[in-house]
Amino acid sequence: MKRVLLIIGGGIAAYKSLDLIRRLREQGVAVRVVMTEAAQKFVTPLAAGAIAGERVFTDLFDQAQEFDVGHIRLARECDLVIVAPATADFMAKAAHGLANDLASAVLLATDKPVLMAPAMNPLMWANAATRRNFATLQTQGLHFVGPNEGEMAESGERGVGRMAEPTEIRDAALALLSDGPLKGKRALVTAGPTIEAIDPVRFLSNRSSGKQGYAIASALAELGADVTLVSGPTNLPAPTGVKRVDVESAREMLAASQAALPLDVAVMVAAVADWRPAKEAKGKIKKDAAGVPAIALQENPDILATLSKLGKKRPKLVIGFAAETDRVEEHARAKIAKKGCDWIVANDVSGDVMGGAENAVILITKDKAEAWPRMAKEAVAHKLAAEIAKTLTAKGRRK
Ligand code: C5P
Repeated sequence: MKRVLLIIGGGIAAYKSLDLIRRLREQGVAVRVVMTEAAQKFVTPLAAGAIAGERVFTDLFDQAQEFDVGHIRLARECDLVIVAPATADFMAKAAHGLANDLASAVLLATDKPVLMAPAMNPLMWANAATRRNFATLQTQGLHFVGPNEGEMAESGERGVGRMAEPTEIRDAALALLSDGPLKGKRALVTAGPTIEAIDPVRFLSNRSSGKQGYAIASALAELGADVTLVSGPTNLPAPTGVKRVDVESAREMLAASQAALPLDVAVMVAAVADWRPAKEAKGKIKKDAAGVPAIALQENPDILATLSKLGKKRPKLVIGFAAETDRVEEHARAKIAKKGCDWIVANDVSGDVMGGAENAVILITKDKAEAWPRMAKEAVAHKLAAEIAKTLTAKGRRK
């Protein structure tokens, strides 16, 4: 039986969380409830406990409660943590890692996926501090459902800030609790830069951080895929549940990518160096030997095009990235044709995307071009992984 730890925060939407408990239990999910002090001003632990069929936990400093289960066990003995309503204050605490009550301590101590359902006044949701905290939590890989647009319960004001409905939160939770739509599917992600040696100490490379590719590898693994991440040199830790293969040059990246076949999906996010020095000097090129050396360049193999044109062994879905600075969609469409891939995720890199935390992309497939709002790279990854899952699991339909 799947088990959810539901943290109820202190907002008027807390009354909807009682219904959420029912909706989850109807699906055979056990629900254990933690309430903040403020939440208890809106609904009582007695009501939540009666609906959950379990005692409710409220106090980090209650010796009896801590002795009974304890915040570390609460954090671990579940498959998913849901925070509903997630108030502006709770999001701020979570974003900064505060842990001065049971709910925030549990959140800090958990190694399970976390789903937040924010609920607050539209001005609080729009406030720069909340935007920052939201972005931070997204970057940490937390999942979000809502908030929705609509009328606020207390003030009657309209705007974005209403908590998602219990059935929406339940559906988002069930998706995270399921074994994953990509179970049994094999995925390849290339990420980071490549480095191309000039001599044993010098190389050509680029500014790719690898963040977007790592986030995609992680999101695909969360959906149950068997993921190989072929990575150029980055400073990032390997995402959990992902097999990472470290490479340096484009040629090594190609070989490692081919070694990952057969594949259901290949997502080529790496910023592969277009050219490499035609000759790698065996020894360090001397500064004062013969003046300034000329470095002749030679084209690197195109990994995306190579995998796209594999014939029978071709991955079912091949996705490329396109970093463009102008006429983004037009160039991306030309790239689909030239490389033979199925989709292109195009981004405008004229701003601070490379190395930055956020990305604004257009997903271009043969029959659509969908511009996504600017969001954290983790959120782009979750959305792309969901699109991949939808396509790979659609029966009898390709791409
Ligand atoms: O041609 P361009 O470099 O703009 O294409 C970008 C896309 O092609 C990215 O998905 C990148 O990972 C992939 N690529 C590749 N091998 C190369 C060059 C680009 O896989 N040599």
